[in-house]
Amino acid sequence: MEGFFIFKTFSSQQFLFSFKVEMTTLISRRFCHQPSGIKNVAVFGGGLMGSGIAQVAAQSGFNVTLVDQQKKVLEDAQKRIRQSLEKVAKKQDKVEQSEFVDSIISRIDTEQFDANKSSTFAVRPETDLIIEAIVENMDAKHKLFSVLDASASEKTIFATNTSSLPVVEIFKHVKRQSLVGGLHYFNPVPMMKLLEVVKAESTSEETFEKLCNFGTEMNKTVVKCKDTPGFIVNRLLVPYLAEAVRMLERGDAEMKDIDTAMKLGAGYPMGPFELLDYVGLDTCVAVLQGWSESYPDNPSFRVPDTMKKLATEGKLGRKRKVEKDFIVTQSNVMELRYHLDGFNPLVNYVQHSI
Ligand code: CAA
Ligand code: NAD
Repeated sequence: MEGFFIFKTFSSQQFLFSFKVEMTTLISRRFCHQPSGIKNVAVFGGGLMGSGIAQVAAQSGFNVTLVDQQKKVLEDAQKRIRQSLEKVAKKQDKVEQSEFVDSIISRIDTEQFDANKSSTFAVRPETDLIIEAIVENMDAKHKLFSVLDASASEKTIFATNTSSLPVVEIFKHVKRQSLVGGLHYFNPVPMMKLLEVVKAESTSEETFEKLCNFGTEMNKTVVKCKDTPGFIVNRLLVPYLAEAVRMLERGDAEMKDIDTAMKLGAGYPMGPFELLDYVGLDTCVAVLQGWSESYPDNPSFRVPDTMKKLATEGKLGRKRKVEKDFIVTQSNVMELRYHLDGFNPLVNYVQHSI
């Protein structure tokens, strides 16, 4: 890969389809709100979230470069994006299905970069926005942004998709203090309509407006958030997920019944265990661990032992499951059952969940 934005050869049908996407995007941007002015986006981290963000950005007409430290992750991300686009395409006119998928994919370039191994990365000067979706670890994020700050145009906006870390802390070493903010997407990105836009202490009004407008251009419903732990959704959601595990550890109810109860009694699309499995235990543990270090007196931030144990063993849930030749980690629902075996058999539920 030589650069960010490569010209691709289009068939006439692909060209017509791309033209239609451009026009629809242009019309909605012209008449619905102030344009963000953003055209070229680089997404760092090609995992669960980064691949979804790259996909939806490309679907919304942006040129995207997806960067990850591992080649295999980038290959898997491309498969994941194709699978998701095929689902979306099924809802389009039959004639346009393959053109739709190919034309969106043609907007996404991939590039390999590991900030642990190299201290330079050539960010293209055209890049308007960088969205970081790498591992939920402050040191890793600091390392990446110090490399990017040295290379990116001084106009490039930096955004993080962190679930829980203070945005102000993530950007504390970068020079472009007014050009930073949080763009917090939800999993699965192509399906979830919400985007939390986070204003850090140093974020300028202009940057914040641009990020909000960019979110609207990605067809997300934007909510504005302060830089507080977990913003809006995770501050409520993550302690709830942890409490579900504690409920199971205490033996108050069976896993299946807790999930059923929250689906049918509270109207949630997934029960807490299904959702834990879906989000990834590593992310949930990282979130709770960070918060319990910062707020040791808050018992709702404590990491349940079972969750910690499974994540330490690398049992992260279904997050990496794509299909056949992809890494298929076992469901954490199953792992939780193993852990608690002996007093809480959940055989039927295990079969249902994998
Ligand atoms: N791409 C494209 N389409 C997809 C898709 C994807 N990745 N996943 C599902 N779909 C489509 C399916 O094709 C299907 O379409 P049709 O109805 O037209 O057939 C539709 O979505 C429904 O899918 P399913 O029937 O497979 O399953 P479902 O009805 O349970 O919906 C779900 C799936 C949207 C994921 C739903 O279960 C859901 O909303 N779950 C809750 C997810 C959630 O809470 N996410 C937030 C997690 S917290 C977070 O992200 C923040 C953080 O920082 C940790
Ligand atoms: P993931 O493990 O699926 O993906 C992270 C990717 O980052 C991996 O592919 C890894 O190879 C790559 N990576 C790590 N360090 C890197 C570096 N220095 N340079 C380039 N790539 C690097 O994780 P995820 O679930 O996609 O989460 C990513 C971020 O999004 C985290 O900050 C997380 O808190 C946040 N988030 C997660 C969810 C969720 O439901 N999982 C939802 C919203 C936000």
